[in-house]
Amino acid sequence: MRAVKIRDGGFELGEAPEPAADGDQVVVRIRAAGLNAADLQQARGTYPAPPGWPDDIPGLEIAGVVEQPARTASGWAAGDRVMAVVGGGAHAERIAVPASLLVPIPDSFDDLRAAGFPEAFSTAWDGLVDQAGVRPGDRVLVTGAAGGVGTAMIQVAGLAGADVVASVHRAESHAAVRALAPDATVVTPDQEEENGPYDVVAELVGGKDCLRRVRWLKPYGRILVIGVGAGEEASLRLFDLMRVRGRVLGSTIRARSTVEKAALATREKGCSARSRRVVSRSRWTAFIRWSRHRMLTSGWARRGSSARSSCRWSDRPRRVSIVVGEGHAPPLIFFIVRWDVTRRTPGRPESFRVWNSS
Ligand SMILES: NC(=O)c1ccc[n+]([C@@H]2O[C@H](COP(=O)([O-])OP(=O)(O)OC[C@H]3O[C@@H](n4cnc5c(N)ncnc54)[C@H](OP(=O)(O)O)[C@@H]3O)[C@@H](O)[C@H]2O)c1
Repeated sequence: MRAVKIRDGGFELGEAPEPAADGDQVVVRIRAAGLNAADLQQARGTYPAPPGWPDDIPGLEIAGVVEQPARTASGWAAGDRVMAVVGGGAHAERIAVPASLLVPIPDSFDDLRAAGFPEAFSTAWDGLVDQAGVRPGDRVLVTGAAGGVGTAMIQVAGLAGADVVASVHRAESHAAVRALAPDATVVTPDQEEENGPYDVVAELVGGKDCLRRVRWLKPYGRILVIGVGAGEEASLRLFDLMRVRGRVLGSTIRARSTVEKAALATREKGCSARSRRVVSRSRWTAFIRWSRHRMLTSGWARRGSSARSSCRWSDRPRRVSIVVGEGHAPPLIFFIVRWDVTRRTPGRPESFRVWNSS
């Protein structure tokens, strides 16, 4: 088959053997594949492929169709449209992938868009929600926010109910980033400090002074290091970290085992069904009753009055508006409750917009 091969620090089109599938592997005919910073680093010789994946063919994410289902794993049939994060080898006509890593492509995604989704959005979801524990109401700074991972992160952080500050150094990219996440505050790097303090800083750029951002953390804030393209060594004034009781976290997806990658894929897979089930009307109704009870018992509304409530929620389930009125005598009490659905309900892939995916 044809494949892009890494040669002398660059890429060239060449030939590679057809993939041989083990029992639980599916052969996927690749229709589109993402190009990531890691591919360029691999070509330069600074980021080798993890064991078990082709080390001379780049490509970390695929979109395609199942050509040959696995012999010992069920769930996929020939012709199914699938996408996946892989350890390498995506820039080829075919690849053998463990069945557990595959995610169905939503109908609304074309192949190009699907090929730009898995790596960036897995990284964003895993980093912000699973590693840094972003909660509704957190203030989150994303550096390098105009890139593939950055544009995923500002959408995921918004879905998680965070107040997002997107740091974009090129002025010409600001409008496009704002269009992706209208609720986010888009700033230049020199405006990051004045827009803090932050609960979480997602560091996608790196560089020797990137950990100065520890000073802009709120107590118990976290710096999540994901990308270090501008330099992988940084100095940190340790007292700044101590003062905020802060944490510096780091994460990569590529180096993870197949089992760990499969866990991420599973979170992507059932998301649509789960988000509808968990955010069910009965759950909201129970929550509204509980809120009304708390308001009555806490003195916000008069005991014995005919307090009534109504609940509305927007397309994004993070925001619930509750309106409580007291019998015939308003004033209405109006407040916004942010409901932590993100722990259990990853966003639906089709609700995200993939940018930089060509
Ligand atoms: N840990 C993981 O699992 C993981 C997974 C995926 C990616 N990554 C890493 O995360 C980083 C971002 O990935 P990506 O796919 O989003 O890359 P990308 O699409 O190339 O985006 C990088 C972004 O950073 C900006 N940038 C670069 N240098 C900058 C600087 N000195 N100051 C301010 N902004 C700067 C770029 O802005 P301009 O384009 O305007 O210059 C761009 O918006 C990369 O280093 C990548 O290797 C890590």
